[in-house]
Amino acid sequence: MHTTQQNKIKATETNTAMGPNETFEYAPSIESTDIVKIAPKNKLFINGKFIEPTSGKYFPTINPATEEKISEIADANAADVDKAVKAARKAYTNVWSKLSGKERGRYLFRIARIIQERAREFAVLETLDNGKPIRESRDIDIPLVAAHFFYYAGWADKLHYAVPGSGLKQPKPLGVVAQIIPWNFPLLMAAWKIAPALACGNTVVLKPAESTSLSCLLLAEVLQEAGLPDGVVNIVTGAGETGAALVSHPDINKIAFTGSTDVGRLILKSVANTDKKLTLELGGKSAHIIYEDAAIDQAVEGVINGIYFNQGHVCCAGSRLLLEESIADTFVDKLKLRMEKLRVGNPLDKNTDIGAINSAEEHQKIKRLIDTGKTEGGEYYEPSSLTLPAKGYFHKPCFFNKVSSAFTLSRVEVFGPVLAISTFRTTQEAIMKANDTPYGLAAGVWSEKGSKIHKTAQGLKAGVIWANTFNKFDPTSPFGGYFESGFGREGGRHGLLPYLEV
Ligand code: NAI
Ligand code: MG
Repeated sequence: MHTTQQNKIKATETNTAMGPNETFEYAPSIESTDIVKIAPKNKLFINGKFIEPTSGKYFPTINPATEEKISEIADANAADVDKAVKAARKAYTNVWSKLSGKERGRYLFRIARIIQERAREFAVLETLDNGKPIRESRDIDIPLVAAHFFYYAGWADKLHYAVPGSGLKQPKPLGVVAQIIPWNFPLLMAAWKIAPALACGNTVVLKPAESTSLSCLLLAEVLQEAGLPDGVVNIVTGAGETGAALVSHPDINKIAFTGSTDVGRLILKSVANTDKKLTLELGGKSAHIIYEDAAIDQAVEGVINGIYFNQGHVCCAGSRLLLEESIADTFVDKLKLRMEKLRVGNPLDKNTDIGAINSAEEHQKIKRLIDTGKTEGGEYYEPSSLTLPAKGYFHKPCFFNKVSSAFTLSRVEVFGPVLAISTFRTTQEAIMKANDTPYGLAAGVWSEKGSKIHKTAQGLKAGVIWANTFNKFDPTSPFGGYFESGFGREGGRHGLLPYLEV
């Protein structure tokens, strides 16, 4: 993106008249536009500049819908991480911590506006690198990214209202924060983390996930365009080793991590006996509860969105469906009918509902867990009418019906388009089954009775509970979990507190 050589990408707007049985061809565009330029090699973003990695090493990033290499990404080692942390420290001490909230807010507003202006580039790049449908990156991810920067821009000069009891005194930032993010919502997770950190006066070293670095590097261009002072945000690309080097760097004041529970545990161990602050946003196995008095057709849509949105690569995915026994058969029939109409295929096609699984490894993991489910004996269903493209990591949306809580699929996070269905008879039983998990991230409840929703919600152990909807996000609303889903909140006023001395 920051070199001149270009690799032109076209977004297709074809296939509008295709039936579900026809295969999608990759990018046969009728009206196509050149939208985003991608450099063949992408450097590290340190101290406001794009620089070569110390080792000179690069690794490929793949388009999961074609299995073709898009470009190469710099592999940062401990020396690069040290450079980035030093740049962030210098920017913190000399510049960023000295600005007023109003001035910091101005930068954030500018960043938000440029993201809106360049939204098409971001959406196409995110879809190419991640595999998610363009409709989702265009209508959900990128608008939410801008919304997060706007929202926290507004907080920058009002932080004395953020911490209860701090009166008119400005609460202090923490210093240099390390932020490690996953590949499922690459730019959105960067925004969730960078926007509140900067609003509060911290400086940042961000590490994107190794399979999806491109949109964060385009963000680096936007930061330059916005005139953000050098070193306020640094981006080091690489895999787990780069992340580990960042976590263990002695001059980090806080770590914010989103990813797997296993890596979350490693980070927790690594910060023990240090005074680094930590927030963890980990996995989930969220329950979606449907009562017999729910608006059934809407609930079917809600369940589809709950589990098949973003190929199911969603930490709060409604991956366990709990149906009131009296409507279970009807509901499952309607769900099957709706699933027959889902379009799986070319993520750049506007009509695609389910795109590509982000990597070969994740695809293998999903297949492995489905095999386990079949061995354990749930009733497996996938739409027979769907055909998948010959190339690319595609997977059919599917479910297991009549699954008991002892099944692997009721307990383990699949992180893919796989739903586990069981039934309940009473509110108490629904709550008990929903809470029977080591996680506690999210839940959904569908009923036409407000009192029933409230009663159920009170019993659920989950950080986020949706009523008559699912997977809806907003910067004003705090997000985060309990138990093995992690701790700390992102979003809303609560999302400021982990970045302030309170
Ligand atoms: P991961 O936890 O390994 O990766 C997340 C981020 O942590 C990436 O940026 C990665 O490079 C970094 N990382 C890896 N090892 C590290 C270490 N030792 N120290 C510091 N940073 C490190 O997750 P992965 O391997 O991509 O996915 C595996 C499974 O984890 C998924 O199938 C899913 O079940 C779960 N997951 C959950 C996410 C969530 O949003 N809750 C996001 C991503 C994965
Ligand atoms: Mg990739």
